[in-house]
Amino acid sequence: MSFQNLLIEHKERIQYIIINRESKLNALNKATLAELHTALSDAFSNPKVGGIIITGAGQKAFVAGADISEFKETGSEGGGEIARQGQTLVFDVIENGNKPVVAAINGFALGGGLELAMACHIRVASENAKMGLPEVTLGLIPGYGGTQRLTALVGKGKALEMIMTADMITAADALQNGLVNHIVSPEQLREKAEEILNKILMRAPLAIAAAITAVNAAAKDGVNGFETEKEQFAKCFTTKDLQEGIAAFLEKRKPDFKGE
Ligand code: COA
Repeated sequence: MSFQNLLIEHKERIQYIIINRESKLNALNKATLAELHTALSDAFSNPKVGGIIITGAGQKAFVAGADISEFKETGSEGGGEIARQGQTLVFDVIENGNKPVVAAINGFALGGGLELAMACHIRVASENAKMGLPEVTLGLIPGYGGTQRLTALVGKGKALEMIMTADMITAADALQNGLVNHIVSPEQLREKAEEILNKILMRAPLAIAAAITAVNAAAKDGVNGFETEKEQFAKCFTTKDLQEGIAAFLEKRKPDFKGE
């Protein structure tokens, strides 16, 4: 499938989704969000794809936010719809996906761009990346889950400081505050994201999906994460992969997981 605003690349079991609007610093307009929904749905349902890396085209930006020019036409009724649609069709789809998604942050990750990275399961940043939620400079607040996911990652104090000052932080600061998992040079960014994903792809795929569901439950209001963990743990016992994992351990060989 080909897209206007995305590039799709495959490297063995990894699917790259590259936001490709370099002249607009990869800002997320409606068309890009719609394409992202399609690309993500395809990747999550394609048995040949084990995991996804999301990054931005070019050297300058991962994604510099939602496309501000489209907000001009949005009336008082439209704001809620933008947030609802975006969260339901893209950001929540990533977070709740059954395959691991890594953000490779190759430059500015601002507003919706940082929200996109935060919806991913793991974040690797290049050392020149800059991150922030500058929506209040426009008279807005983050609407794609940023207030919730940033708070979960860095804590309430740092989240409120970043959101209320609108300051950008460096990759080093982001690492120190738990916003990103790793920092590497721009040249090593994709390699590092692939290395992490390839390690995850050696593990039992259904156990990975169960881990995502259980860990996500930790940040959900009204959900008892301990109950979710018990359910997901029990579910693992119904898989052939668990039998294979146990057999491989006892036979002192590498497991051959089939995702069954
Ligand atoms: N929405 C729409 N267009 C955007 C954009 C966004 N979020 N971010 C950048 N662009 C566009 C610029 O309008 C410019 O387009 P033009 O060449 O047609 O004028 C192009 O991308 C390059 O950006 P520019 O501002 O010239 O680059 P810069 O190096 O001077 O500044 C940033 C880089 C990231 C600091 C600056 O682009 C910026 O502040 N962007 C908005 C960030 C933001 O507020 N995001 C949250 C949105 S809710």
